[in-house]
Formats: sequence, structure tokens, C-alpha cells
Amino acid sequence: MNSIRNFSIIAHIDHGKSTLADRMLELTGTIEKRKMREQVLDRMDLERERGITIKMQPVRMDYVLGSMSYVLNLIDTPGHIDFSYEVSRALTAVEGAILLVDASQGIQAQTLSVLELARAQNLKIIPVINKIDLPHADPESVKDEIVKLLDCDRSEILAVSGKTGKGVPELLKAVVERIPAPELPGNQPGYQVTKSLQALIFDFSYDTHRGIILFLRLFGGQINRLDKLKFASSGKEFGAIEVGVFKPDELITNKLESGEIGYVVTGLKEPGVARIGDTITSQKLPAPALPGYGRPDPVVWASVYPEDQGDFVTLRQALERLSLSDSSLSFEEESSGTLGRGFRCGFLGMLHMEIITERLKREFNLSLIVASPTITYEIEDLKGLRSKVYSAIYFPDEGAYKSVYEPWVNIRIIAPSQYAGALQVLFHEHEVIQTNIENWSGERVSVEGEMPLRELMRGFFDELKSISSGYASLSYKIGDMRAADIARLDLLVNDERIAAFSRVVSRRRIETEANSAADKLEESIPKQMIEVKIQAKALGRIIAARRKSALRKDVTDYLYGGDITRKMKLREKQKKGKKKMQARGSVSIPHEVYLKMTKS
Ligand code: GTP
Repeated sequence: MNSIRNFSIIAHIDHGKSTLADRMLELTGTIEKRKMREQVLDRMDLERERGITIKMQPVRMDYVLGSMSYVLNLIDTPGHIDFSYEVSRALTAVEGAILLVDASQGIQAQTLSVLELARAQNLKIIPVINKIDLPHADPESVKDEIVKLLDCDRSEILAVSGKTGKGVPELLKAVVERIPAPELPGNQPGYQVTKSLQALIFDFSYDTHRGIILFLRLFGGQINRLDKLKFASSGKEFGAIEVGVFKPDELITNKLESGEIGYVVTGLKEPGVARIGDTITSQKLPAPALPGYGRPDPVVWASVYPEDQGDFVTLRQALERLSLSDSSLSFEEESSGTLGRGFRCGFLGMLHMEIITERLKREFNLSLIVASPTITYEIEDLKGLRSKVYSAIYFPDEGAYKSVYEPWVNIRIIAPSQYAGALQVLFHEHEVIQTNIENWSGERVSVEGEMPLRELMRGFFDELKSISSGYASLSYKIGDMRAADIARLDLLVNDERIAAFSRVVSRRRIETEANSAADKLEESIPKQMIEVKIQAKALGRIIAARRKSALRKDVTDYLYGGDITRKMKLREKQKKGKKKMQARGSVSIPHEVYLKMTKS
């Protein structure tokens, strides 16, 4: 079959991938106009509410050009950096990519990083300018940028509007004409077409009744319903209960052939069996595994506890369930004196963390305490042994270690030239080492640099947006581990360390961090019957201290009239009681305070 074209749409966030996909679905009659809704491929409620794509979504379209019928398989990908792992997986399953650039914004930092991913897969790139309907669109300058970036002919660049549909028919035609059909061998290194079955798992989902549903791209052979299949690397065997394609809902076809993208229902229900990047092959004529892809390392870690300890088991089941459709989520049980039993979870970034905790709350009806997210540190102890620490709680005391290492990131920023000065100030604030600056085109600069991940997470992106009136864009990649000048900052309430509030901070910012943490705690903690002493401690000394006076309650309120001796007696009793409480130091910290303190 020479009639298949597999492709993806890649772009900087919000440059209009999902909207363009909508028009393609309409034009090819995949979805009837009356059933169409905006960004139809964003299926999760959360995706629709926030207007972002979180999960990649494959869809198959039938398309006629002249006298030929074609099958177009599109995989819509997410745009946010946290999900670039999803993008790289999608790209392994296709032969071409539409590189979409917003006509009003031009090339942005992530346009470059997704392009790098596509080039690494040796994909055919179709450059496309989107949103040409916008009044301030400047397609000609954006074309200049693209020509420079891709070193392509100006005439190769298409111009469309995902909103009005202008130019989309020409784009579909270009997909057929420019993107190679899958069976032409050698399109992708390591993925040669074979006779025996080789199907790459690029994603999977889970259904309570049907078990694990594999999303596959066939590089050779075919799959029929009831075929006896197995996972190439784990050897686990199963039968294909149902076989079909995405239209975008599942449509049973009973058969998938080489070059096609579709799904297979396995009936398997145990977690950990399916692994993204593994290969499905046949039991009778097994073929070797395809190159696949590595599991991404989590970038941030956070402890997640149920507000009510009775919900611990539900939380575990919920995490297991979510990890069945999100293989980049990792978790491990842990316990804390104040919070009880919970989980240490690893995420690909802050947005990923936000999405997962939001899903746990909504889909499983859980109330959660999420501790301050941290990154991985490597500690070299006094004997020279290295170990990893994922949580500030376990970061060693001052003097108990020789040195500490932390992850750095390589960043790229594209911003209008007039903000170059403000960028330098921001770089100084966040320990950025600038490695390269280039006049991108016209009035924009492209800056490359390196910085500690810790500093990136300290609101760097928000500050970048604010100093550039929203015009600067950022992309980053995790780099190497480097020696770090950091220490643990603890918060003490009436001399007791509250482990969940501990954090790791840069030594040069220790005073500022200590004071702002103490202020925040003072503001969040409600008045108590006794005086509350709040202290921030680091490097073996108290750096900031606050006091919150005791609640004044008139214990004589309920007495009518004048008996002064009785009143005095009651007040005396209250004083004694408070003294006793103060001596015990018992301060109850409500859950809201944990929530406020851990939300950065
Ligand atoms: P992520 O998946 O979150 O990266 O976003 P996306 O790239 O899929 O972008 P999406 O399709 O969600 O569009 C982002 C915004 O741009 C939405 O508000 C769209 O309505 C708008 N938009 C998309 N295409 C066009 C277009 O051609 N013209 C205009 N005027 N607006 C558009």
C-alpha cells in the first residue's frame, strides 16, 4: 500500500496545532461538521479547560486526491516543554512533520527544540505559517526567519489559517506529495521494514474491562484479531482481543498492516507489563525489538499525602491507575511523622505535577497535601560515597557532607532585542551563564545559556515573561550535574522542626529565603491559645524569627454582673493553662497551612 502518510504537527505552545487538526478533520470528513467542537483532539476535561494538549492523540483520516485515495495518520502532540517526551515518541511513529509557526509571533524557542527532535528522526519537514487571518500577522518576515532556519526555498513554505481554514486544502495536498510513504525503506535509521511483525508501542491507555490498550505503529508484518502476540523485550504473551484504528474514536478494523497506526486491546490488567518504546511481535515468528526509547528521568519530585489517612489506599490505587496511561509518572511509598503515609512522586516538570495532582483530586475525589517540589541532589558524604536525595527532608545537616551536586539545564530564549538589557539583570538574579547570543532576525535575539535547574524552578519563566511583556519564549534541556553552593533551610514552630516545610536554597539567598519563609508562615498560621514562635534555621543558626501573639479570649464572657473575685479566678486559671501549653509547645498546624506553605 503506497497510500499511507504518517505525520505529526509540531510547534511552539499555542501556535495552533490542535485548531489546524480540527480543520483537517473537517475537510477530510473524519468528523461531521455538526459534531465538531473546538480542539476536538484534546479529549481530557483538563485539556479543554486549560486550552492545552497534554496527551498526544492519533487520528486516521481518509483523503482523496485526484483519482487516488489516501490514509492520513496524524498524531497531534502537546506543546509545553514538560511534555516534549510525548513529542519525541510521536515523532518516532511518523515519516514527516508539519512545523507550524504563528504568523504574528514568528519562530519561538520551542519551535527550535521540536525541530531538533524532528531532525533527529530524519523526518520530512513541511514549514507552515499559521494564523494568517490575524490583523497583525506578518507572514513575510516569518517566511524570512523560516528560510534562514531551514535553509529552504521560500516557495516551500505554506501559509494557512487554522481558524478560517484558508490554505488547509493545499496543506493536505502537500502532506501527500512531500511526506514519504512508510514502506519506502530507510526513512528512519533503525526502522527498516520487515516481513515479520514489528510494531512500536508509542503510547497506551487502560480500560477497566478491556485492560491495557496499546497504541501501535507497524513497521513490518500485520496484526489480525485473535493473533497470538508478545512483547519483544519482556516476552509477555497475549492475544489481540480487538484491533482497530482511531477515527478519532476507536473503530474496529480487525486488521492492521505494515505502515499503519492503530490500537490493539490486550486484556492484560497487571501494571508494569506494557512499556512505551517496547516492540510487539508475533509468538510464532518473533522479530527483534525496534530501537525504542529510553524512559525519561523525572525532573521534579514532590511528596503527595492524603489529607485523610483513611484515603491512603485510594491514593495508591489512583497513582497506579494514572501511571497506566502516563508512563512518565513514577511514585514510591514514604512516610512522614506529621503527615502519615504518602508517596514520593517524580514528574517531568511543574506543569506535569500540577496536572497529575489535579487529576488525582478530580478523577478520584481525593484531598491531598502536596509538599514543596524538589529536584534531585547528589550528596558526597564525608567518606566520599555518593547518594541521591530527592527531598529537602532528607538533605543532610551542615557539616555532615563533603560536597553536593545539582542538575543544570541548557536554556534558549528568543526575545525582542529591546529586552536584552533586562535579560542580563534576570540572568544575574538566577545564576545564568550566557554562552551565546545571536541576532535572530530583524529585531529579535536568540540567547543560549546554562543555569541550575533549581534557579529555573524559582519562578524564572514567570519573571522572564514579565520583564519582556510576554514576548520572550524559553525552552530548556536537562544538562549535567555540577557542584552546588546550597544548604537546607528549616522552619521551626515553637522549637520543633516541621519537616514538610524544609527546603534547599542557594547560600547567597539564604537571608532572603529565610525571611520570606518566616513571613509566609507567620501570615498563614492562625492564632493559637499560646504564643507561637516561628524560626527559620540554616547553617546551624537561626536566621529569621517571628512571634505570633496568643489568642485573647475572655473566659469571663458568660458571667453576668459583677463578682470580680470569680472573674479573677477564671483569668488566673486560663493563664496557668496557657503556661502549661506553652511549656509543652503544642501548636496545631492546620492542613491549609501546609497547603499554603508548600504552594510556591
Ligand atoms: P498546545 O497544544 O497547548 O501547544 O496548543 P496548540 O498549539 O494546539 O494551539 P491551539 O490550537 O490550542 O490554539 C491556541 C490558540 O490560538 C487558541 O486560542 C486558538 O483559537 C488560536 N488559533 C489557532 N489557530 C488560529 C488561527 O489560524 N487564527 C487565529 N486568529 N487564531 C488561531
